[in-house]
Amino acid sequence: MTTDSDSSRQVVVRLEGVHKDYGDAKALDGVSLEIRAGEAVAVMGPSGCGKSTLLNMVAGLDRPTSGTVRVHGEDLGRLNETGLALFRRRHVGMIFQFFNLIDDLPALDNVALAAQLTGTSARQARRRALELLDELGIAGRKDTYPAALSGGERQRVAVARALMNRPALLLADEPTGALDSRSGEQVMDLLIDLNQIGQTLLIVTHDPHLATRCASRLIEVADGRVARESTLEPTA
Ligand SMILES: Nc1ncnc2c1ncn2[C@@H]1O[C@H](COP(=O)(O)OP(=O)(O)O)[C@@H](O)[C@H]1O
Ligand SMILES: [Mg+2]
Repeated sequence: MTTDSDSSRQVVVRLEGVHKDYGDAKALDGVSLEIRAGEAVAVMGPSGCGKSTLLNMVAGLDRPTSGTVRVHGEDLGRLNETGLALFRRRHVGMIFQFFNLIDDLPALDNVALAAQLTGTSARQARRRALELLDELGIAGRKDTYPAALSGGERQRVAVARALMNRPALLLADEPTGALDSRSGEQVMDLLIDLNQIGQTLLIVTHDPHLATRCASRLIEVADGRVARESTLEPTA
């Protein structure tokens, strides 16, 4: 477990006064927070409170109405669309509830594509993809298309894809939300292992079990605001 109170660690994410409006609806209503290198932070809160919106701001998938988002030293508000796309490919990995794999590509190519988009050669990309699939215990499924993979296997492919470019930050939005409990536990174990080797994690969930197992700090969101922050004790 990381010592999340260690203020000497580099700040990877800093949000200051972030607002996001969708028409009259305030999805985020003044969010400020910091995440340091090596932390595993869970964001919890009721449906519709702004969790996914928050994650999308950090990922550079969407822009705030006002406020600043800094990730890995980059002020995302200063980047144009091309800059944001490059930022996403190089510095963040994302995993989603419904995996978001490309149906027409086998597992290996789903993973390798992430690196090819950053200019890595196909050969190198496939080599690293195979290494990752091997580390995640699904190398034997490399030639299988998503439709023939189990939910847990799909999510492990998605985790491999997210890790391809060695992101400063791994973002997960309800990563176990579509999995049976056994596959969900396996994905949780994977996230814990990744954090133990130093991967910074930001996990959105409404599952307290996922939060307490995987995270060392909890940020509770309500009505687009940070309602509470707390430290979580490691569980066995
Ligand atoms: N693209 C969008 N257009 C309009 N409203 C949106 C959009 N995305 C989110 N919202 C609204 O913003 C609020 C927060 O949504 P979201 O961040 O998805 O919540 P959560 O992930 O916590 O369930 C909700 O009221 C939702 O309806
Ligand atoms: Mg959501």
